[in-house]
Amino acid sequence: MRVLNGLQSSGTLHIGNYFGAIKPMLELQNDNDMFMFIANYHALTSVTDGEALKANTMDAAITFLSLGVDPEKSTFWAQSDVKEVLELYWILSAYTPVGLLERAHSYKDKIAKGLSPNHALFSYPVLMAADILLFDSQIVPVGKDQIQHVEMTRDIAIKFNNDHGEIFTIPEYKVDDNVAVVPGIDGAKMSKSYGNDIPIFMDEKPLQKLCNKVVTDSTPFGEPLEPEGNNVYALQSLFLDPTQQAELAERYRSGEFGYGHFKKELKELIWDEFAQARERRAYYLDHPDEVRDILHAGADKARKVAQEKMKVVRDAVGIV
Ligand code: ADP
Ligand code: TRP
Repeated sequence: MRVLNGLQSSGTLHIGNYFGAIKPMLELQNDNDMFMFIANYHALTSVTDGEALKANTMDAAITFLSLGVDPEKSTFWAQSDVKEVLELYWILSAYTPVGLLERAHSYKDKIAKGLSPNHALFSYPVLMAADILLFDSQIVPVGKDQIQHVEMTRDIAIKFNNDHGEIFTIPEYKVDDNVAVVPGIDGAKMSKSYGNDIPIFMDEKPLQKLCNKVVTDSTPFGEPLEPEGNNVYALQSLFLDPTQQAELAERYRSGEFGYGHFKKELKELIWDEFAQARERRAYYLDHPDEVRDILHAGADKARKVAQEKMKVVRDAVGIV
């Protein structure tokens, strides 16, 4: 299956992003023809500082490579390195009813928050449709907030195909319902916008400090602890298989250990899980040219697919 995903370069990732979105996506790259790109043109709708966008794009590439995007298995590039996407974006604009874009939740939400919208924000879903259709993507793994964008892509593709024949593959979205919502240090959904997140990449001491802040009940030391509905237990469980979870629950109930103990264990689990990623990250931070080479090689592979598709599309619409 051709699976495609765009990754916004939106800053520091936390362990909620990792377990909720990144890890499931990385698992897909073993059995699929995976296409992954850093959506830096999309990021222009919110980042206006050029130096910041350059740095974010590099940081996103390093982060995803460190976490396990494998350029041998997957085609991995920066969106702006395959310019064909902008040509398709314009062509698809001519097949996109304004009413469809006006109904986009994410656009309406941003306006409701008082953002004064520019045209790029409004036409964001058309560029996303171009990303998806240019590469004949069959599956697009998304969070719930992005479902509507894939539905819009389908609408645009169907309209185009009705006029010109079966040119675009109609994509399906894939939402992973099994993925649990990761709680933040206050027990609410972990989110960078709530300031309750645990970043993936942190030094060991501040990481322990953050783990110590995870909100718990006030069971005195020496009393059994209830793992059910317990934030520390929920966070630890993310890193454990069912047998290990059961063993951990027993230790909570034994009354032999207090929260201080389990918070140290939580820090160890996080620290160990990302040990390899941290090493790779340090390496790539020291070798930015290698990162650029990986992105360029990925762009070359992606561009070949894109150029073939554009020949057919141009011919269909009459651009010669
Ligand atoms: P944030 O809420 O920190 O801004 P985003 O909205 O950028 O995170 O989410 C990026 C991806 O990470 C989405 O696919 C989303 O579903 C996933 N994700 C974010 N927070 C969590 C969480 N607490 N638990 C599980 N998945 C999450
Ligand atoms: N809009 C997506 C997000 O905010 C990023 C994205 C851009 C994307 N183009 C895409 C995702 C194509 C999937 C397919 O997360």
